[in-house]
Amino acid sequence: MPEPRTAARIAGIAAFHVMDILARAQALEAAGRDIIHLEIGEPDFATPEPIVEAGITALRAGHTHYTGALGLPALREAIAGFYATRWQAVVDSECVVVTPGASGALLLALGLLAGPGDEVLMADPGYPCNRHFAQFCDARAVSIPVDAASGFQLTLELIERHATSATRAVLIASPANPTGTAIPAGELSRIHDWCAAHGVALIVDEIYLALTYEGSEFSAARWNDVFVVNSFSKYFLMTGWRLGWLVAPAWAMPGLERVAQNLFLAASTPAQHAALAAFSPAALAELEARKAELQDRRDYMLPALRERGFLIPTQPQGAFYLYADCSVHTNDSAQFAQTLLEQVGVAVTPGLDFGRHQPQRFLRIAYTQPLPRLAEAIARIDRFLA
Ligand SMILES: Cc1ncc(COP(=O)(O)O)c(C=O)c1O
Repeated sequence: MPEPRTAARIAGIAAFHVMDILARAQALEAAGRDIIHLEIGEPDFATPEPIVEAGITALRAGHTHYTGALGLPALREAIAGFYATRWQAVVDSECVVVTPGASGALLLALGLLAGPGDEVLMADPGYPCNRHFAQFCDARAVSIPVDAASGFQLTLELIERHATSATRAVLIASPANPTGTAIPAGELSRIHDWCAAHGVALIVDEIYLALTYEGSEFSAARWNDVFVVNSFSKYFLMTGWRLGWLVAPAWAMPGLERVAQNLFLAASTPAQHAALAAFSPAALAELEARKAELQDRRDYMLPALRERGFLIPTQPQGAFYLYADCSVHTNDSAQFAQTLLEQVGVAVTPGLDFGRHQPQRFLRIAYTQPLPRLAEAIARIDRFLA
């Protein structure tokens, strides 16, 4: 019997190479090896207690039914309030959609904006799911090579060079995964003006914005014609709760509500109730302390890697990643990552996962382990290089 065939779009959706590294790391651990995990893109910290408590209370109170597709009104208001206090941005809570993670927000935005024949401009290297989301909408992801010269971010000049009459959206993440670099507010402003003048949607993924260690946290939500993606995953330490949000222009809300109803019905109800407590002073105090720990780790890892010949020319201002050029040690970062894991038990992600622009030169190193473990990782890298 012939098997049903999969849709053509599935062939272009690549697996994460990091999952192979993770699977091998876990197999080595099962065999008794001690592995230092610097490959995974999530903080090692637990969700703060006030958030966990609020989640448990919500479950006990029977908050286990659907919410409206756009999310709990109280949470949409709390998110709008966070923009006012943290980022001095006036956001109408009616323009907030609560989603299953930033992933849900990106899918909603691209689903609304892009279809067959349409192009979405994005940086390469970049968060790999973005090009796959575009592909899933049968649109074309136009991956624009970026390097240290532009802080691994798109510039207006690059956008103008790659834009065509089919360009529907420009997608920017700041600070970015895998580089941790942020786009300067002035450049973002110029890109915003260009998009507005050309009828192109601007999508800004601010999932790491609250994890900015230096420079101001400039939110694109100060403009009310931008699609701004964010999440409870990273700064709020709630990856597994699967909760994020999208701030959208008012004109987009009816369409987004219909798509959200059909794709998700709603985001997780207990998670939404838990997230209400994420904005409490107690939770925010803990989150800021965690952020300071992440910054200490960056400030340890960045010089330590540079001293060992890894090139990280642009200061990563945020997130918890270093995108290190390892070309003084190897011309094949995937092979390097594999032997580093096998020989000394340090797991990192090869550049291959983040695009096609010189991936063999780069490794992504996530500083998602406590400082003593990072010091141990550096000692092991020394042994490996020797
Ligand atoms: C830049 C970026 N955007 C979006 C996501 C998706 O996050 P989530 O769906 O957990 O909110 C991630 C996850 O690593 C990311 O790095």
